[in-house]
Amino acid sequence: MAKIKADVVIQNAGELVTVASKGKPLAGKNAGHIGVIPDGALAIAGHRIIAVGTTSAVLKNVDAADAQIFDASGKTVLPGFVDCHTHLVFAGSREDELELKAQGVPYLEILKRGGGILQTVRQTRAASKGQLVENAVRTLNTMLEHGTTTIEAKSGYGLEVKTEMKILDAATQAAKRSPVEIVNTFLGAHAVPPDATADQYTKTVIEEMIPQAVGKAEYGDVFCEKDVFSVDQSRRILKAGKKVGLKTRIHADQLNRTGGAELAAEVNAVSADHLIHASTDGIRRMAQSGTVAVLLPATGLSSMLPYAQARAFIDAGVPVALGTDFNPNCWCESMPFSMALACRYLKMTAAEAIAASTINAAHSLNRADRIGSLEVGKQADAVILDAPNHQFVPYQFGVNRVQTVIKKGNVVVQKSNE
Ligand code: NIG
Ligand code: FE
Repeated sequence: MAKIKADVVIQNAGELVTVASKGKPLAGKNAGHIGVIPDGALAIAGHRIIAVGTTSAVLKNVDAADAQIFDASGKTVLPGFVDCHTHLVFAGSREDELELKAQGVPYLEILKRGGGILQTVRQTRAASKGQLVENAVRTLNTMLEHGTTTIEAKSGYGLEVKTEMKILDAATQAAKRSPVEIVNTFLGAHAVPPDATADQYTKTVIEEMIPQAVGKAEYGDVFCEKDVFSVDQSRRILKAGKKVGLKTRIHADQLNRTGGAELAAEVNAVSADHLIHASTDGIRRMAQSGTVAVLLPATGLSSMLPYAQARAFIDAGVPVALGTDFNPNCWCESMPFSMALACRYLKMTAAEAIAASTINAAHSLNRADRIGSLEVGKQADAVILDAPNHQFVPYQFGVNRVQTVIKKGNVVVQKSNE
């Protein structure tokens, strides 16, 4: 039988990690079963992966005569990272808050003073869509250089119909100018605007914003938090979104134990995010509803707050995913850095952190059939890191070891020293 012609072949990898998971998230005892192949290779034709295995097995099965060859000796090959929680689109920055946080001023106090999210809302309302697109493209480029090939992007710095829609449109336009794929989430309920009560604004979100977000966003989200949106208001918002086809994510139990994990399970949320203060019962219920726990260690670092306890979720069988939570409070575009934090503060193993940054994150975006692992037939999204093995990836931090990024079969990042 004629061999299939490969366009790109990565070969001789110190380790190639497939993260193949038989269609399910890697959870419980399997949370770290990522499939490490020493002397690994990957062959790509067009957008797709056509062979994965040891170098000798792959070269036996494909025709590599005309392929672009990458020698990954001494390096690690991973699936492209999936950053499943970002606030991509906004204007301005909030470096002034770093000192306040160091002095111990609480996050919700900064918000009450009109800073935090509300500061970014003022700047984002004043920005043109074009400016927002430029900002977003710059961020996407940095993410891509750090190995991220797909992200989720939330709105939430408009808190009024016009600007919320401007943000969603800006994300869609930015996606056209970057190889990074974007999944849009409508987060109109990110804070209460100064001219409304939480109840009044909940009504605006449900009656005026959600209908307009349909077609622009795939998910609906809410910041369920003490003094922001109550469990009851969050439930109403999430259910209204669901009714018109927005799948559910939720900022849950981030700063206080509010019952966010329980609500996530009740409404069958695809993901519940942050979860620092989730209750044992909430975690148990999330395991039953199959909700993915999206943990965001960079937020703990930037906010100087405690970290979620990943082991409790893993032990309960809840799939754990990681994200950067890129936003003006947490200016972090790097998944490897988030993994480095996860291994130290969330007590995850390197293998668990890799699964959480690839296949589990893909599951949390309902895209695991196409991305998140290196398997035959899947979209060819892959990263070559200058790291001798997968454990080295979260071990080193503060530098970028990503050398090559391949998105949909195209080489989109190539460091010159390769
Ligand atoms: O996920 N907690 C709410 N939302 C963001 C922070 C947004 C901001 O402070 O601008 C988060 O951490
Ligand atoms: Fe967030």
